Amino acid sequence: LSLEETMIQPVLFELDGVLLTQPIASIWDQVWKFKAKPDDVLIATYAKAGTTWTQEIVDMIQHNGDTEKCKRESTYKRHPFLEWFLAEPPSARYSGLELAEAMPSPRTIKTHLPTQLLPPSFWEQNCKIIYVARNAKDNLVSYYHFHRMNKGLPDPGTWEEFVEKFMTGKVLWGSWYDHVKGWWKAKDKHRILYLFYEDMKENPKREIQKIAKFLEKDLSQEVLNKIVHNTSFEVMKENPMANYTKDFQGIMDHSISPFMRKGTVADWKNHFTVAQNEKFDEDYKKKMSDTSLVFRMEL
Ligand code: A3P
Repeated sequence: LSLEETMIQPVLFELDGVLLTQPIASIWDQVWKFKAKPDDVLIATYAKAGTTWTQEIVDMIQHNGDTEKCKRESTYKRHPFLEWFLAEPPSARYSGLELAEAMPSPRTIKTHLPTQLLPPSFWEQNCKIIYVARNAKDNLVSYYHFHRMNKGLPDPGTWEEFVEKFMTGKVLWGSWYDHVKGWWKAKDKHRILYLFYEDMKENPKREIQKIAKFLEKDLSQEVLNKIVHNTSFEVMKENPMANYTKDFQGIMDHSISPFMRKGTVADWKNHFTVAQNEKFDEDYKKKMSDTSLVFRMEL
């Protein structure tokens, strides 16, 4: 590692069995005490499940399909990333809490926290929450490539090593299995729209309509079609306000793997060996035996 890399690469810290970065742990009291407001909308996901995509859809719905308004800032600044905190280097300084507190209502906030670590005020204020889940294998593949290109995350190690870490939940934001199951359970008690990346790929128009209905926004067919177009992978990949080329320069290296990498379902087939896949499936069955939650691994 270069000196710069050792400065950026985070030390991880375990909170309630969930790995977070040391800077996040250092401000945890403030995160936990965050005061959500009743009209806050929260977009919650496990990392790499389609957060940015959902953020763009929500922003487009909130701005009635006005692409210029949605280009006012990059995704990271339009929607505060609640728990994310990085003081150094200055070029990558970010405080989701500060951004959220400075933002006029109604706010849309992003988080990767599992339910047990979500600041209680979100439940108390009965905020609308949109949760997006992606099948484990594609989520893992996407997370692996993101670790490779993002110096702000720990070194993923080899593919084999990363698969192991993912299966044991020893990755940032903890176990994928607990995350998706926890939010699935929470939806029975709270205002949560639980969506799937695979459904969004299969029929974006239908899923965008679901989100609009949840947000109580009426969209004309024309606006709806405009949103479908502008939130497609191909268009977002070229949108500098959505493709992360404006954020974290020097931290994210898109030449290693672009943030807008493939945007498909079943890319895991290009990564898992047959043996790895069998082992993964067997372990998956055990870990997912106590939930009614079902994923599609291909379309
Ligand atoms: P891949 O690495 O599989 O390509 P997040 O925003 O949660 O970090 O998720 C990133 C993943 O969502 C990446 O997956 C990225 O390509 C994909 N993605 C981003 N925008 C998308 C879109 N408009 N349609 C489909 N996938 C998209």
